[in-house]
Amino acid sequence: MKRVAILISGGGSNMIALARSMEGAHPARPVLVLSNDPSAKGLERAAAMGIPVAAVDHRPFKGDRAAFEAALVQQLDAAAPDVICLAGFMRILTAGFTGRYAGRMLNIHPSLLPKYPGLHTHQRALDAGDAEAGCTVHEVTSVLDDGPILGQARVPVLPGDDAGSLAARVLVQEHALYPAVLARYVTGDRRPVLL
Ligand code: GAR
Repeated sequence: MKRVAILISGGGSNMIALARSMEGAHPARPVLVLSNDPSAKGLERAAAMGIPVAAVDHRPFKGDRAAFEAALVQQLDAAAPDVICLAGFMRILTAGFTGRYAGRMLNIHPSLLPKYPGLHTHQRALDAGDAEAGCTVHEVTSVLDDGPILGQARVPVLPGDDAGSLAARVLVQEHALYPAVLARYVTGDRRPVLL
């Protein structure tokens, strides 16, 4: 049974989708949900599902990323995860951290990478006049929102869309894509999932 840790910063809807997907017959199970925000709603939701939770508040570290990440590492390594899923985790990670977990850390990003790494992805897709938007799951490297692509899901951009309506349409696909990629990934299958 593979052990999966999930890092969140907010509501954790992707975390819930991942956790639900691991209920029943599945080669993995969630062993920790970890947040940089102790008030993240997702922590309560994970705890209600019986998943161990922890928080490392980034604020007292006052920009000392190495010290913040050392505290994250302590929590993560205590849970001994085989795979780490970033799911709406909104802190930039240093090469030291990403290198430590190279080849076993995934991220979901709300754009069709390599388009629109970083923030405000939906507005940027709208501003560019794109006909399609979507989301990507990729292996995490030291480069932000980069690394081998493990899956993508596409949605149409519809007339009258704003960033909110487009984000909601993409999020539905995120909840399908991330579990589909994880189910393959934990068996060692790195072929991309295309939805
Ligand atoms: C998701 O849309 C995820 O793709 C995005 O944050 C949201 C988190 O929602 N991630 C990023 O923007 C990472 N750069 P959730 O907390 O409900 O899963």
